Amino acid sequence: MSPAMLVADERRDDQTSPPESQLLKGVKLLCENELHRVPNKYILPASERPGSTNTQDPNLQLPIIDFGDLLGPKRPQGLNSMRDACQQYGFFQLVNHGIAEDVIKKMIEVTGRFFNLSFEERCKYMTPDMTAPVRYGTSFSQTKDTVFCWRDFLKLHCHPSPDFLAHWPTSPSDLREVASTYAQETKHLFLTLMEAILESLGIVEASQEVTEKKGILKDFEDGSQIMVANYYPPCPEPDLTLGMPPHSDYGFLTLLLQDEVEGLQIHHQQQWLTVDPIPNAFVVNVGDHLEIYSNGKYKSVLHRVLVNGVKSRRSVASLHSLPFNCVVRPSPKVIDEMNPKRYKDTDFGSFLEYISTKEAKRKDFLESRKLTN
Ligand code: OGA
Ligand code: NI
Repeated sequence: MSPAMLVADERRDDQTSPPESQLLKGVKLLCENELHRVPNKYILPASERPGSTNTQDPNLQLPIIDFGDLLGPKRPQGLNSMRDACQQYGFFQLVNHGIAEDVIKKMIEVTGRFFNLSFEERCKYMTPDMTAPVRYGTSFSQTKDTVFCWRDFLKLHCHPSPDFLAHWPTSPSDLREVASTYAQETKHLFLTLMEAILESLGIVEASQEVTEKKGILKDFEDGSQIMVANYYPPCPEPDLTLGMPPHSDYGFLTLLLQDEVEGLQIHHQQQWLTVDPIPNAFVVNVGDHLEIYSNGKYKSVLHRVLVNGVKSRRSVASLHSLPFNCVVRPSPKVIDEMNPKRYKDTDFGSFLEYISTKEAKRKDFLESRKLTN
């Protein structure tokens, strides 16, 4: 039986389902008219549905890193905890990071107001161009997904070009100001975290000359930053669909802000582990580029998003990497005879080409970059 038939078997006879052209306008719009059932286009095959996997071990929790520890006399212990988290989970929660509560609240709030604008206002930013400085869309990859996800998004390019800002939405009127402050502060936090990550990998040393360290960090300073605000409306049948399918993130680190509604799950020891929302904390995760750069020491881990029947959920992901024209390769400092190079050199172009030709799910891009010898 073909996979298409398997999917079809799970579907219901649903003559009233809206046409696909309507679904491409997003789930927010779909939900503005009372909806009692999930249209077929969102129904996952039974094996991929959220309820079909095991329940969570209550003792398992994502490691929590206190950013203050990384800056003070406890730095060695802080680096050890961070190394353990990046190796074992690929994820950690970051608290006490120094970004003001107000900056965080305003960012969640202003992107929430963007999603509440009329469809006419939001759709000004819908474009199939993956490289557009601003893009509003729905699902995960709306041109290729065979099953759609219960999610709308607003993607903002932030760095390296200062010209990006001029393309961002003008409504809500405070969006540009709030989002650019938030982008600058998360970029700064990323740089400080990245320096700690490099130290935890032995790529830079605490005793190293500041100018030498700055050289390594310069590429990250000039690097790319993209923010994605996600909106997951309440779903009438949350067991049949997902807000985001299992995927890994492409860059070095993602700094994710989630509101107080749970939904994010990470794949850990063959089970899905729910990430508890901690007010004002960032969920930090290793992306594909850091897995390559660390030659596999740090893992880019699969994660997915559940939706729920009652509440809408919002999140803002800030994805950081090197400049778009840089090649990512395992750092020479982590390669030796015992640890030969395990990944191919990877440029951003090959990643874009890959995601524009395939249904970008799971970790298959990273798999394609592995050396098999
Ligand atoms: C992402 C992501 C998780 C969430 O944007 O890549 O995984 O909770 N988001 O929205
Ligand atoms: Ni992600």
